[in-house]
Amino acid sequence: MAGSPTIGIFGAGWVGLVTGACFADLGHDVIVRDVVPERIDALKAARTPFHEPELSDVLARNAERIHYTLEADDLASAGVLFICVQTPPTYSGDADLSYVWTALDDLPHTDERQLLVMKSTVPVGTGEKVRAALDARGLTNVGYISNPEFLAEGTAVRDFMKPDRIVIGAFEAEDGAAVEALYAGIDTPVVRTDVASAEMIKLAANAFLSTRISFINEIANVCELVGADVQSVAQGVGLDHRLGPHFFRAGVGWGGSCFGKDVSALKQLAGNSGYHFQLLAAVIEVNELQKRRVISKLEKHLGRLRGKTIAVLGLAFKPDTDDMRDAPSLVIASRLLAEGAVVRTWDPVADARDRLIGATQCATVLEAVTGADAAVIVTEWEELRQLASADVRDAMRLPLIVDGRNLLDPAETRRAGFAYEGVGRPSSPLEALPETEPAVPVSGST
Ligand code: UGA
Repeated sequence: MAGSPTIGIFGAGWVGLVTGACFADLGHDVIVRDVVPERIDALKAARTPFHEPELSDVLARNAERIHYTLEADDLASAGVLFICVQTPPTYSGDADLSYVWTALDDLPHTDERQLLVMKSTVPVGTGEKVRAALDARGLTNVGYISNPEFLAEGTAVRDFMKPDRIVIGAFEAEDGAAVEALYAGIDTPVVRTDVASAEMIKLAANAFLSTRISFINEIANVCELVGADVQSVAQGVGLDHRLGPHFFRAGVGWGGSCFGKDVSALKQLAGNSGYHFQLLAAVIEVNELQKRRVISKLEKHLGRLRGKTIAVLGLAFKPDTDDMRDAPSLVIASRLLAEGAVVRTWDPVADARDRLIGATQCATVLEAVTGADAAVIVTEWEELRQLASADVRDAMRLPLIVDGRNLLDPAETRRAGFAYEGVGRPSSPLEALPETEPAVPVSGST
């Protein structure tokens, strides 16, 4: 693109690669730098190091415009540098910014004007600290801009190309304008603001999305007690234009590398500033308990779980990704193993063999459910929509489905000969199935 600066990217993870690929697709020249040699080798050999729909295609069609390197100095020619490194939580719940500071240490030397753009999610106040650090190093030629990402895994390319908004927080208005110009071709509202507000927008957005899910999960838990169906409730509530339908699906809790980290980081940030963010404390606790409710649901039908075989279907924290960071499946499977259950897992792309020691990872759904006393849907993979089939029913020892994502139709599932337990919906017991073996007594359960 004539006149447009080369874009440098620190970090070839989800955010960095998607950002680099999509900027290349918009016509920019891009250099992606990572410190992991295997990752750079894979990318140079046109192998995408993780599962993200569309990403391999975008990288392939822009191969001429994207270069990969281990050397930070190769970014010296880049007019704009995006920081896309991890900011994992520390033990205290604060965000660990060590990768950000390392990227700053690695900044290539240039006398030209260079813009440093923070895409990684960072605590409010990070921009001020980075600005001070740049100034202390005499790097007044480097401008600093906060431009948070709102990419969700599984839809990251679409989220970049068709975003709901672009947020740009800058110390200098012309720096913000230069970053906005990079997105030319994308038609969406642009929020231009100060750096602290841009940082807060990202944290508040993730915290509010998590709050909505924890809220509907609590409504679901009450629905179970009073005989209501949370699916209808969410539909009826979500049609209110002031509330909207999104992020209102009850389930086994939210996971992934972002929500837990960012909600904790915002709660911690508030605490560090002298404010106790009670609502977020509850949002986190509700989510932890929600994952564990699967165990009591199984016990309700099966009694003690020791020696029972449970198929855990879906390991990734959501469909269309192989990411298992903070996945509800890890907590559910670990609790089952701790109860002495035999755990058989299945996922089309995620691999938990080194994380769930003692569980057996199966290649197919049918293999996972064979001989099982219950099948638990943890991730709403498309393949699992057909779970209530005769083959599955015949393969299971007891035909019990715990649908942790409300993926199946309860009535159809019952008609297909399964006992059914969803989230926030009426359940049907094994005893109600005429052709099944009598279920293990319910007494003493839950
Ligand atoms: C999230 C945000 O959605 C992105 O906007 C943000 O950019 C990203 O974090 C980030 O900070 O980098 P992501 O974690 O990839 O994206 O996935 P989500 O689609 O938000 O799902 C998070 C979790 O919530 C999943 O476990 C999902 O199953 C769960 N969920 C989602 C529900 O339980 N119910 C819902 O209604 C929606």
